[in-house]
Amino acid sequence: MNAVGRSLPHDSAHGHVTGSALYIDDMTPLAGELHVDFVGSPIASGTLTGIDVRAAMAINGVVAILAHRDLPGEKRLFGPIFHDEPFLVEEEISYIGQPIVIVAATNREIARAAAAAVVLQCEPSLPILTIDDAIAKNSFLGPRRKIERGDVDAAFAAAPHRIEGVLRTNGQEQLYFESQACIAIPGELGSIRVISSTQNPTETQSVVAEALGLGLHQVVCECKRMGGGFGGKETQSALPAIMASLVAAKTGRSARIIYGKDQDMIVTGKRHAYQTSYRAAFDDEGNILAVDVSFHSNGGAFADLSTSVMERSMLHLDNAYYLPNARITGQACKLNYPPNTAFRGFGGPQGVVVIENILQHIAQSLGRDAWDIRRLNAYRDGDRQRSLTPYGQWVQDHVIQEIFSTLEQTSDYRQRVRLIDAFNERSSVYVKGIAMSPIKFGISFTSKFLNQGNALVNVYTDGTIQVSTGGTEMGQGLNTKIRQVVADQFGIEPADVIVMTTSTEKNNNTSPTAASAGTDLNAQAAVVACEQIKAAMSSFAANRLSSLTRGIAASTEHICFVDGYVYDDRNPENRIAFGPFCDMARRERVDLGARGFYATPGVDFNRETGQGTPFFYYTTGAAVSEVTIDRFTGEMIVDRIDVLMDVGKMINPGIDIGQIIGGFVQGMGWCTNEELVYDESGKLLSTSPTTYKIPNITDIPSQFHVDTIENPKHRINVSRSKAVGEPPVMLGISVWLAAQDAIFRATPGRVVEMPLPATSEVNLITMQNRLAAVVQPT
Ligand code: MTE
Ligand code: MOS
Repeated sequence: MNAVGRSLPHDSAHGHVTGSALYIDDMTPLAGELHVDFVGSPIASGTLTGIDVRAAMAINGVVAILAHRDLPGEKRLFGPIFHDEPFLVEEEISYIGQPIVIVAATNREIARAAAAAVVLQCEPSLPILTIDDAIAKNSFLGPRRKIERGDVDAAFAAAPHRIEGVLRTNGQEQLYFESQACIAIPGELGSIRVISSTQNPTETQSVVAEALGLGLHQVVCECKRMGGGFGGKETQSALPAIMASLVAAKTGRSARIIYGKDQDMIVTGKRHAYQTSYRAAFDDEGNILAVDVSFHSNGGAFADLSTSVMERSMLHLDNAYYLPNARITGQACKLNYPPNTAFRGFGGPQGVVVIENILQHIAQSLGRDAWDIRRLNAYRDGDRQRSLTPYGQWVQDHVIQEIFSTLEQTSDYRQRVRLIDAFNERSSVYVKGIAMSPIKFGISFTSKFLNQGNALVNVYTDGTIQVSTGGTEMGQGLNTKIRQVVADQFGIEPADVIVMTTSTEKNNNTSPTAASAGTDLNAQAAVVACEQIKAAMSSFAANRLSSLTRGIAASTEHICFVDGYVYDDRNPENRIAFGPFCDMARRERVDLGARGFYATPGVDFNRETGQGTPFFYYTTGAAVSEVTIDRFTGEMIVDRIDVLMDVGKMINPGIDIGQIIGGFVQGMGWCTNEELVYDESGKLLSTSPTTYKIPNITDIPSQFHVDTIENPKHRINVSRSKAVGEPPVMLGISVWLAAQDAIFRATPGRVVEMPLPATSEVNLITMQNRLAAVVQPT
C-alpha cells in the first residue's frame, strides 16, 4: 500500500491531546538553570537616560542583570533583510516593550519580581503612530517598489467607468498557543546550544552568533516542534534567543526564557496593517481595463520582513484576475510599534483584499452580480492573451475556471441569492449577504536564494529510517508528510520512518519553514537523499539477487522497493524483506545514509524592474460565504461556507483538509472579529485572548463544506502535491465581502466603502452613515 495519499494522523496527534508532546517549557530543567525575564521600554519613542538595578539586584535569587553594555560581540544590529534592529536598547527607544534590561534568577517568580524592580529613566519624544504621520514625515523602511505593465494613464483617460478609494486593513496577532520560548545551554569551546521554538533555526543560530561574537560553528540551534508559529516565529524568535544566550554565556548556566501571553502580544510584531489607495477603470461589461494601486504598510520600528511582505502584496494584487494595465507601488513605513512580521499569507491577504474590493465595487456600481464580474476577469488557462501577470509570469496549468463552475453548482449560489433577496425583503431586523472570492497564491520565496532545502536520511540495519531536514514542525503536519514521502521511496510503512528534531548541526544553511514551501523543499530534498541511498542499494541488490536467480543478468534498473521487500521485477518471487536486506547491505559495506539537496528550478524575480518568474506554481481555490447581520447592532453571524481548492495530489488528505479549514478560519478572524486596539501613546490594549477575539468554535457555521478539485495538468513538485499552508487564509476574505454585500443590500446606493475587519461596530457605523447620507438633503 502506498504511504503517500493516506490520511495518516499527525505524528504528534496523540502527544498533542495527551500532553506528552514536549514543548520548550515542558523540558526538564538542567541543574542550576536560570529563568530569564526582561524589562521592556515603557514608551514608544525617546531616549534611555539611566538604568537603576540596585533594588532588583538586592532580591534574593537574582543572579545576573544585563544590558546593552554586556553584549560581547562587535555587531550591534541584526535583522533578516536589513541589519537595523539593536539586540538591546542602547539609547534610542523605538517601541513599547522593546527589550532594555535582562534579568536572570533562580526561578520565574524572582525573575519577574526583579524585572519589576528595575527602574528606567527615559526621555520620551513624539512617536509616529499612524501611517499618515509616517508618510508626512518620510519615515520609511526600504525603498518604494513598483510593478508596472501597459499604459495605465491612457487606459484611465479612455475608460467609460472609474472607481477610487482608500482601503484600510488592520493588523492581526498570530496568537500561537506556545508563546516565544527558548533555552540556551553553554558548552565547550565557547559554544552554545539553543533550543528554540522557532520556524527559523538557521537565522536563530546566526543572530545568536552575531550577538555573542561567536562563529556559526559554535552555535547549534534546534527545534523539536512549535506550539504554532503562523509566521510569528520566522524572525521574532530571535530576540528571546539572544536574551537567553547572553545569560548562558555570561553565567555559564543554562538559561530559559518563556514569554507570558500578554508580554508576547505586547512586544512581538504582527500582521501588517495597510492603507491602500486604489483606482480602477472598467468597461460597461465589467472588464477591468486598468488599476493603479499604492500600498503603504505599518512596518513597525524596524525592517524585519516588511519589504518582503510588501513585495508579496504587490505580487498578489492581480489575485486570480487578468489586469491588462496595472501600476502597483508599495512602501513599508516606519512607525513606533514592534516590528511587524510574517503572518500566514505574508502580505498576500493585504494585496488580494484590494482587488476583491475593487471587483465588488465594480459589480455594485454596474448593478451586476459580483460572481459574474469575477468570473469575467478571472484567468483562463490556455488563453495566452490573458494569462500574463503584471510582473510577467505566465499563469498556466490551472483550473480556476473549473473551480468557478463547480463551486457555482455545489454551493447552489444562484438559488441562494434569490433566497437571500426574499429573506431581506421579509426581515426588518436582519439582512443577509453572500460573496465568492478566489485565490491564486504564488508558491516560492520571492527571494530566490531561500528556495533550497537539504535533508539527511539515515537507514538502519533493521530497515527503519531517521530523517532530518531543515523544516520545522509547527502543527502543520510537515513531519508526517515527509515521513510518508520517505516511506514511499523505500516501499515501507510510515511507522518505520521517524522525522527527527530539526537541528542546524544536521542541516545547515536552511531556509525558514515558511512561504508554505516546507514540504516542497524538505520532502523533495529527502527524496533526493533516498534516491542516492537507493542507487547504492540497487547496485548491491542487483548483484545479490541475480546471483540467486540463474539466467537473469544483473541490472539495477529492475530493482524495486515495494511493500516492504526488495526484488528484481523480472523475478518477484525471489525477494528479500527490507530490514534483513539493509543488514546484508551494511555487511557488504554499502553506505546506508545520504544528504540530499534540492533547489527549486526556474524561479527568479528582479525587484528593481518588478519583472520575472517569482513562483514555481500557484495554489488556487475559491470560497463562497453567506452571512447575516443584525441591522440594529451590526452583529454578524456566518451562516455557511463552501470552499473548493486545487492543492494538487495530496500527500495526506486529512492534514491538507485540516490546513484548509484552519487557514480559512484564521483568515476569517482577520476579516471579522480580530481587532488590535492601541491607546494614543502606542500601547496595545488588546493584550490577551479575553480582549482580542480569535474565532471561537461557535463562530464556525454548521454548514462548512470543504472539498478539493483534481488538476491533471499539475505535474511538478514533490509527489505532484501543492503547498497548502497559507492560501486558504485568503479565502476568509469572502466573509468580509459577504458583510459588504449584506450592507449593500440593506442600504443600496453608492459602493460600500468599509475598513477590514468587519466588526459589529464597523458594520453598524457603515450602515448608519449610508442611511444618513440618503436622508440628508443635498
Ligand atoms: N498550521 C499550524 N497548525 N500551525 C502553524 O503555525 N503556520 C502556517 C501554515 N500552517 C502554521 C500552520 C504558515 S504561516 C506557514 S508558512 C506554513 O504552515 C508553514 O509550513 P509548511 O510550509 O510546511 O506548510
Ligand atoms: Mo508563513 S507567514 O510564511 O511563516
